[in-house]
Amino acid sequence: MKVVSVVGARPQLVKLAPIAAAFANSEHEHVIVHTGQHYDADLSDVFFSGLGIPDPAVHLGVGSGSHGVQTGNILAALDSVFTAERPDWVLVYGDTNSTLAGAVSAVKLHLPVAHLEAGLRSFNRRMPEEHNRILTDHAADLLLAPTEEAIRHLAAEGLSGRAVLVGDVMVDVCLRIRDGVLAGQHPTPVLPEGIDADAPYLLATLHRAENTDDPERLAGLVEALAGLSLPVALLAHPRLLARAEEYGIKLNQGSLHAGRPLPYAAMVAAVLGSVGVVTDSGGLQKEAYLLGRPCTTLRPETEWPETLVDDWNRLVPEPGRLGPDGWSATATRPAPAAERTTPYGDGQAAVRVVQVLQERLPS
Ligand code: UD1
Repeated sequence: MKVVSVVGARPQLVKLAPIAAAFANSEHEHVIVHTGQHYDADLSDVFFSGLGIPDPAVHLGVGSGSHGVQTGNILAALDSVFTAERPDWVLVYGDTNSTLAGAVSAVKLHLPVAHLEAGLRSFNRRMPEEHNRILTDHAADLLLAPTEEAIRHLAAEGLSGRAVLVGDVMVDVCLRIRDGVLAGQHPTPVLPEGIDADAPYLLATLHRAENTDDPERLAGLVEALAGLSLPVALLAHPRLLARAEEYGIKLNQGSLHAGRPLPYAAMVAAVLGSVGVVTDSGGLQKEAYLLGRPCTTLRPETEWPETLVDDWNRLVPEPGRLGPDGWSATATRPAPAAERTTPYGDGQAAVRVVQVLQERLPS
């Protein structure tokens, strides 16, 4: 069996790591195609080196652009790659423009498509990621779902026949790296200047278009983070840096200390070193849960509702409405006493993905 994985953005590289490892332990051929949606070394190269992912066989180098331009450029460039490779499966990951373009290109060429992390929904039709999820799920032949909730969403859209529950591959990689961090196998993370790793701090990220692309909203969120009662280590995504600069918003103010994004192992170490996480990232909400740190999510909804159980994660779309004390008390709340369950599977999802791809190989 020959499988082509299409990836392009940071969270896809994290998901690719356990899949690439599972293929490396099999007799199957695995070809990695990088679209180039993320091109900064901090968002791409360090994930390949840090997670031991083989170099991509093909790099499309599409770079940034509006959604239409970015998606269209990837789509146009993939046609010849897929035609040359003729894989048994095209495997697309998550919810980015690279995901949608990979699925559409494959479908048009009559190549079977599998969607990893299928069935997630925010039910927020303004999110580019939500368009990408829905369109990809309806185009794909095989829907590899991470959770029971995702399976229910697919059933509600009439897609049960193509759906398989495999668990979440992010558990595979997160727990493996956590064990390495706890065993001292990774260097200590470089936190933003002004953060003392030995004193309590919160770890924050902010990159969703709906939070960064409106000057008033972004200024309000930055002000909220700067007003927290603990130091906040903000790992700034290039989109955030670009918008903050464009709107004249200072990211280093009050409690807020901005620094560069971290490689994956350093990110895991930084979460473990923190007393809590404040974010709008999907992946980081779940990593906080898996690593046992309370999370505050700067969005009105989440694709990972399992993290909300027992207050491990709390949705706070408008921190300003809680008042400074209420907001600080929320973001710095201690870890809940409740035991966490395992809604995301057992850490063996990637091996299951390879098995399911083989079992469902179209004849
Ligand atoms: C993308 C995904 C999002 C994912 C996120 C993880 C889409 C629609 N969104 O969002 O689902 O959670 O990746 O990071 O696919 N930029 C750089 N260097 C880079 C990459 C981006 O400077 O390496 C800047 C550019 O100014 C670009 C902007 O960030 O215009 C946005 O990048 P883009 O890839 O469109 O979306 P992300 O915000 O990264």
